[in-house]
Amino acid sequence: MRKSIATGVMTLIPVLLLSGVALAQSAPVESLRGAEVDELVPLNQVHKNVEGRMQRNYRQQPPLIPHSIEQYQIDVRTNQCLSCHDWTKAGERNAPTLSMTHYLDREGRELDRIAGTRYFCNQCHVPQADAPALVDNVFQPSSGN
Ligand code: HEC
Ligand code: HEC
Repeated sequence: MRKSIATGVMTLIPVLLLSGVALAQSAPVESLRGAEVDELVPLNQVHKNVEGRMQRNYRQQPPLIPHSIEQYQIDVRTNQCLSCHDWTKAGERNAPTLSMTHYLDREGRELDRIAGTRYFCNQCHVPQADAPALVDNVFQPSSGN
């Protein structure tokens, strides 16, 4: 019984392959952008990095990152952001030191090493870019009074 199913499947395979070829020939592949399938279509550059530091929109906002982060790996073993921003390195690297909130555990105890809750920097910090808004935004910061 098993054997006959197996042979049945085996004989079906060339039939399926052939009909696949026939289908591919009858319907030419069209790309959604209207270009040839193997043609490289350059995208509009909508994100432009902004030089200098952008103003925070509200007092507690994690500051935007004023430099590219493409090269900086963050995983369980390594965090390259810390090689410039940790308090042990920031002076010699001429980078702003992490503020003390990054060295507090959940009970508010002060630590010498970055808190686990602050390890994955880009949970909160994102590179700054001049890009069209995706949705309307009517956010107003509090006046601070
Ligand atoms: C090679 C060193 C270096 C590395 C690595 C680095 N930074 Fe920076 N970072 C700097 C320097 C220098 C500045 C200050 C730039 C300025 O003031 O224009 C800065 C500024 C910042 C600021 C702005 C701080 C503020 O008060 O406005 C943030 C946020 C930041 N970096 C986050 C990151 C994150 C997240 C990573 C990793 C993905 C990272 N940085 C990796 C050197 C570094
Ligand atoms: C849970 C959110 C969160 C994470 C994760 C986080 N930060 Fe921040 N960061 C903040 C907030 C909020 C501020 C501003 C208020 C403050 O200083 O606590 C800040 C401030 C900073 C500043 C400015 C310090 C100053 O005194 O001006 C730097 C630099 C910075 N973070 C870098 C980093 C780096 C590098 C990492 C990863 C190792 C990281 N942060 C992880 C939320 C976060």
